[in-house]
Amino acid sequence: MKALILVGGYGTRLRPLTLSCPKPLVEFANKPMIIHQIQALKEVGCTEVILAIAYQPEVMLAFKDEWEARLDIKITISQENEPMGTAGPLALARDLLDDGSNEHFFVLNSDVICEFPLNDLLEFHKSRGGEGTLLVTKVEDPSRYGVVVTEADGKINAFMEKPKEFVSDKINAGIYVLSPRILRRIELRPTSIEREVFPAVAADGLLYAMVLQGYWMDIGQPTDFLKGLSLHLESMNIHSHDSLASGPQFVGNVLMHPSAKIGEDCLIGPDVAIGEDCEIGDGVRLSTCVLMRGVKVKKYAKVVNSIVGWHSRIGAWSRVENKTILGENVGVKDELYVNGAIVLPHKDVKESIQNPQIVL
Ligand code: GDD
Ligand code: MG
Repeated sequence: MKALILVGGYGTRLRPLTLSCPKPLVEFANKPMIIHQIQALKEVGCTEVILAIAYQPEVMLAFKDEWEARLDIKITISQENEPMGTAGPLALARDLLDDGSNEHFFVLNSDVICEFPLNDLLEFHKSRGGEGTLLVTKVEDPSRYGVVVTEADGKINAFMEKPKEFVSDKINAGIYVLSPRILRRIELRPTSIEREVFPAVAADGLLYAMVLQGYWMDIGQPTDFLKGLSLHLESMNIHSHDSLASGPQFVGNVLMHPSAKIGEDCLIGPDVAIGEDCEIGDGVRLSTCVLMRGVKVKKYAKVVNSIVGWHSRIGAWSRVENKTILGENVGVKDELYVNGAIVLPHKDVKESIQNPQIVL
């Protein structure tokens, strides 16, 4: 079986992290986002994953070489000359997806995280016999997503992308099984699967929805990234408890890379991910935050509700909080207060930032 992951897009909502690294490669719970997906696809029996990319081919090619070997799965890059939207890439990869075997394939948005019940989705799709089956979930504010109206057996009567008025609280989770037949509807041009393809398939009564069990999050923006981390760590707590940190310095769910070093008298957690080669000094307090690879937090600093980019440094007795996002290689001097700042890569913060702002 094959799968296609929609990797393109600039990832603007996750800046400044995406100024250094394409969104799908930003580490979520210490692994590039799409690795969570590729591993789940491999587990359900996929032998080839097609990455549909629109930008930064060099980075993705390096990624392919490394992870193809590490995960033992074929990774094919399908590169667009211009961004083809969310449906165009399927037409571009038509020959790969429809190789005559008439086999169903998966399509995933690259920024969604959940427990990936892909086998259940596949079985559901086969039992309904439509052209496509979507995983759907319930959210509080459906207006930011694709919304579906379904019948009791899961048949989708209507699909509406980001409707202004409330129609339903069931939304498209960005994970599909499609039959090759659906490709006949997709032209080779920039086009949206949500705005052009799904509404038409639904109108023909051939689109289905399966309700997702467990957590789900689109982690394409900072607040949701942290919320998604908290949900993901709780799921790890239930399913693979031993991979979380334990000991008197930890509270709640904390994921710490084995190479990270931590000082004495720290209080870490809940909902913290500490990346590879991080160094944390004595008496540090961390909660609801992500430290990407190579971050240094000096003694008695506090980081709350924030994301710290690769190789950034936080000075002693400093306090970083309120959705601060530090890009790659940012330095925060000792004894500063950083409140809700977005700091671009390679900057040195030398004075406190009292109110949320962007530091260029
Ligand atoms: N290859 C390629 N080319 N990929 C693209 C392009 C493109 O031109 N444009 C966007 N993508 C990828 C993005 O990288 C992402 O993985 C996926 O397509 C969806 O784009 P987003 O920009 O993240 O869309 P969204 O979050 O606003 O909405 C989508 O996801 C929601 C669930 O999170 C829609 O599918 C909604 O219906 C859905 O509810
Ligand atoms: Mg998204």
